[in-house]
Formats: sequence, C-alpha cells, structure tokens
Amino acid sequence: MLQEELEKRGIPKIGLPSEEPRREKRREEIRQILCREFYGFAPEFPLTDESEILRTEKNSFGGKGTTFEIEIRVRSPFGYTSFPATLTVPAGVEKPPLFLCYTFTPAIADGLGEEILDNGFAAASLYYESVAPDKDDQFANGAGGFCRRNPYDSWGKIAIWAWAGSRLLDFVLKTGLCDETRAAVVGHSRLGKTALFAGAMDERFSLVISNDSGAGGAALLRGKTGEKIENLAMQGSCFWFCGNMRKYVKKEDELPFDAHFLAGLTAPRHLYISSASEDAWADPVSEFLCCAAAGEAYESYGVTGLAAPDRYPLPGEAFHDGRIGYHLRKGTHYMGREDWNQFFAYRRKHKI
Ligand code: GCU
Repeated sequence: MLQEELEKRGIPKIGLPSEEPRREKRREEIRQILCREFYGFAPEFPLTDESEILRTEKNSFGGKGTTFEIEIRVRSPFGYTSFPATLTVPAGVEKPPLFLCYTFTPAIADGLGEEILDNGFAAASLYYESVAPDKDDQFANGAGGFCRRNPYDSWGKIAIWAWAGSRLLDFVLKTGLCDETRAAVVGHSRLGKTALFAGAMDERFSLVISNDSGAGGAALLRGKTGEKIENLAMQGSCFWFCGNMRKYVKKEDELPFDAHFLAGLTAPRHLYISSASEDAWADPVSEFLCCAAAGEAYESYGVTGLAAPDRYPLPGEAFHDGRIGYHLRKGTHYMGREDWNQFFAYRRKHKI
C-alpha cells in the first residue's frame, strides 16, 4: 500500500547501487543536487578552529552534571565567525553518548537538560539565532557574513545552522568527554530540517533525529499537503534555502530529488523521524512516506530502514525495530517529553 502511494505521487528512486565505489559516487551526486538546488553549499576553504571553554560550572543541574560554556570560533583565510554553545555531561558517566541539540532559546536544550542527564546522555546546545539570525538580513550578520555569496547556490540559513552544528561537534569531539561513536543531532520544526541536513552532510552523527520538520525537512514534497514550496519561498522562510529553490515553486514534479534523498543520506546510520498527528502544516503522512521511501537507501547496504506494517501509523504508534525509527505522537506541532522519551528508548534499544 505504501509503495503504491509512492508510485502514485511519482516519487523518484534514490538509485543507490549496492557496491562501492559506485555507491559513494551516487551519494556525492545526491549531496551536490541537494546543495545546488535547495539548501546551498557551505564554503569549502580551510578552517582554523580557535574555540575555547570560557567557563566551567561543576555541579550544574543540582549536581547532576558539569556544564561547559563554550565559544566556537572559526577562522578561514577569508572570514571569521564565532558563536556561543554549551556542553553538559552527566555526573558519573564515563564517555556518555551525546545529543547535539538545536534550540529555539538560549536555555540548555530548551529546558530539557535535566531529563537528558537523568537518562545518561550529554547535551550540547546550540541556540540557532546566535549563529545567524532567523530573518532576511541579506546574510549580513553572524556566520551569514563568513563568505561571499551568489544568488543561486550559496548556503541558506539551514545550511549555515547545520554547518555550525558540525563546528560544535568538532569541538565536543576534541574535548574527549563524549563517546565519539554515539553522537546524535536533534531538532524540531525548522530546526528539524536543520538537524536532518546536518546529519545528512556530516557522517560523524551516528543518529539523526528530525521532529515535525515538514516541508524542506522530512516530508515528501510531491503530493504534500499543508506547507508547500510556494510557502517556503515566502518572505519569512525563503532565506532558509538557496536562491535556486525558487525554481521549484508549484513545480514539485520537476525536483531532481525529494525529501527521501536527504533522509537516505543518513544510511546506513540511524535516522529517527517523528510527527504529530494534528500537525497538518508539516503533514505527518508525507513525513511517514519519506521514511518508507528512504528504506531503499538502507537496503543498498543490506540493512532494514523502516520496519513497520504496510499502512499509515495510528496516533501513539512507534516503530523502533529498523534503522529508521518513527513515531506519531498524538497532538499538535511540538517537541515534548513524549517525543524525548521515544528518542531515549530508541537509542537504548539500538545502543547508539
Ligand atoms: C513555520 C514554517 C515551517 C517551520 C515552522 C517552525 O510553520 O512554515 O516550515 O517548520 O514554522 O519552524 O516552527
């Protein structure tokens, strides 16, 4: 039934061969397509990392952790940018697995820090607007001004925020405080789009979690209801993407990819997509169908992507058996405790 729906929508195949080096060649083609046509390219010049821990708070969260206030500083031959971040590691856990969290507020993991620590994980928090503001500022501020731009395929804000997450990961890995084989990236909504893109581009993330990410995130764009490319191209969000994205307004069928190409780049690592049943703007059905379609990428590695019955999920259902995890929370657009508890359970189950 799900395959029929994908065919009805005209969803293209990812086309990942099962042998190297052809598979890696196709992966590179897909990265190029996604950057050129939708998200924009990050600059590729050499970077010098001058990041530092500015302050250490032992006994944060009532003694449950240690929090490091960090300043990420990146220099290139052409520019310089810096932004703050935090890393909190749980007390008494040797090399904890990490959640790198994109947040909407400067608070650690949007207030969820204690929950994360109690579950034995470390949290690196990145408040997205401290990297580059979420407004059409002509890319004049923060990392937006890090390099010259063109109106076609220069990075949009999602690619900038994603790049910043990778710079934070560079630093966290350098501290040696966390398990470098178990780093998850997580975000909600526009930050769910960002987490998905960050995890697709940076293979050091062993788990990619994208909550209610909708259009430009995990939702298939062909046949999508709610938000469409024409909405993304409007004033409040067009700068999240590169200029070429506008070519596809009302022309979804001409896209040389769909959301499962982005999701499929996570293969064979773990991917977790979550939706909310009343989040019509994001469109949970198209988010779920993306998981089904991305399975093709996992199969090329001989592993199972989504392990779920051949039907749409019911509110409250979770599918945790495959390398693509999914749940449909009952309710509206939000990332809350119920979602986090599913992420914790999925990580425990797969030891990732
Ligand atoms: C708007 C936007 C979405 C985005 C969401 C959010 O609804 O249209 O694309 O995901 O904001 O980030 O909260």
